[in-house]
Amino acid sequence: MRHLLSLLDLSDEDFRKILARGIEHAGNRKLAPAALADRTVTLLFEKTSTRTRLSFSVAVMEMGGHLIALESQMLQVGRGESIEDTTEVLARYVDCVMVRTHSHRRLELMSGLNRIPVINGLSDRHHPCQGLADYMTIQEAGRDLKGLCIAFVGEPNNVFNSLALGALHSGSRIHLAAPDGYPIRPGIRDHLKKKNVHLEVFRDPAEAVKEADVIYTDTWVSMGQEEEAEERKAVFRPYRIDDELLSKARKDVMVMHCLPAHRGEEITDSVMDAHGPTIFKQAENRLHIQKAILEWIFGLI
Ligand code: CP
Ligand code: NVA
Repeated sequence: MRHLLSLLDLSDEDFRKILARGIEHAGNRKLAPAALADRTVTLLFEKTSTRTRLSFSVAVMEMGGHLIALESQMLQVGRGESIEDTTEVLARYVDCVMVRTHSHRRLELMSGLNRIPVINGLSDRHHPCQGLADYMTIQEAGRDLKGLCIAFVGEPNNVFNSLALGALHSGSRIHLAAPDGYPIRPGIRDHLKKKNVHLEVFRDPAEAVKEADVIYTDTWVSMGQEEEAEERKAVFRPYRIDDELLSKARKDVMVMHCLPAHRGEEITDSVMDAHGPTIFKQAENRLHIQKAILEWIFGLI
């Protein structure tokens, strides 16, 4: 049984296949209209979502499957039923569960039972579906992933972790610009080191973006960190993607954002508008890549 909790769950070949299949889906929305016939996919949300919710919903519909989208507060798990018992029950009704959760540990408990395929739709540690859509977007833009330099400016959180682990498969180089006190998780660092992925950490964002092919940012205040909002906005203020920072980068640099954007915080209106075609293509590609991920989960590719 396959699970996708992080990009460590994929082989290099899986990664390549999913990206290639995502690009095929992008070229034909009706590529596999019956691939999920007679299959039911459940989406379970402990946090809000626009892109993940909609892209999975439309992906399942366009592949002929059935979909049940649930908020955890609607279920007994929201008032204390164990995640293990909930998983056992889900396994008796549906064929796959995508979960967005505050705690990655819950995903490990669910997938550890091996009763139903589990897809991580964002946890406090990883956002693998986003990472796959992002590498697909870069590849679709005609860039060679191998040796490509991605400069992430901001907090090395879930989205950063998935981009960084993607580099294990893609051979891309990773730059991180982050303030003191926001280090890369040791586990992520170890995985990169083991496979000799080029990783450089900078305090100065201008240094990090100088040779970058891609500049990537994410919110300074992730879901669940709202209490630290004011402190974070002050600490991360020098890490805003604005025209001044872009003037230090290559002219053909791609600017990417997983969305939702907080215009005027991590990215200015001017940069968002100038790079909208890439950033909204990332959002669109969530749909095409979810289809490829579901096909992979069910062993169809
Ligand atoms: N990028 C992303 O996962 O967006 P949502 O939070 O809207 O799903
Ligand atoms: N780091 C953000 C990503 C949102 C898609 C969060 O966890 O809220």
